Amino acid sequence: MSAEFTNPNLEVLLSNEQITTRIKELGAEITGDFAGQEPILIGVLKGAFVFMADLARCINLKMSVEFMAVSSYGKAQKSSGEVKIIKDLDVAVEGKDLIVVEDIVDTGLTLSYLLQNLQSRGAKSVRLATLLDKPEPRIVKELNINYCGFQVPNKFVVGFGLDAAERYRNLPYIAVVKNPEIA
Ligand code: IMP
Ligand code: MG
Repeated sequence: MSAEFTNPNLEVLLSNEQITTRIKELGAEITGDFAGQEPILIGVLKGAFVFMADLARCINLKMSVEFMAVSSYGKAQKSSGEVKIIKDLDVAVEGKDLIVVEDIVDTGLTLSYLLQNLQSRGAKSVRLATLLDKPEPRIVKELNINYCGFQVPNKFVVGFGLDAAERYRNLPYIAVVKNPEIA
C-alpha cells in the first residue's frame, strides 16, 4: 500500500499550514461579527465536514452545529438548479442566525437553493462560509459569500473534505489531481 498523502499524482495547491492559518482568521472574524449572538453552523455534507470541524474550534462563541445533505442531480442537470435534500435539519431555525458552511462554491446553484430554503424557514439571518471559491464557473452571479477561505482556479480540486469519487477527503491539504486517469 502506498501512502496517500505523498501520492505523486497530487499537486499541492494549498498547504495544511496555509489552510489552518486562514481558518483561524475566519473564525476570529465570525467571533467578532456574531458577538452576543448564538449562531448555528450548518455544514453541508459530506464535503464540509473537515472545514466545519476546524472552523467551529476557531469560533469563540456559544453556538451549535447541524448538518444537511443535498444532491445536485449529477452534472448534466446541474444547470437546472434543482437540488434535493437528502438529509434535512433536525431543528427549527426560525429566528436563528445561521452560518452555512460549504467546502466549495462552484456554479453556486446548490448554495443559492439552500440559502433561499433556509431563509424561507424564517431564519433571522443566513450567512455563507466556504473554504474555497471557484468563481469562473459561477452561474448564480449574485451569490454573496460572507466568509471565504481561498479563491481557486477553474480546476478540479480535492482534499480537506473535497473528493473525487469519494476519494481524497482525508488529505490534510488541497490538491489538484494531475492525471485523473491514474488510480
Ligand atoms: P455548485 O452547486 O456547482 O456550486 O456545487 C458545489 C458542489 O460541487 C460542492 O459542494 C462540491 O461537492 C462539488 N464540487 C465543485 N467543484 C469541485 C471540485 O473542484 N472538487 C470537488 N468537488 C467539487
Ligand atoms: Mg459539497
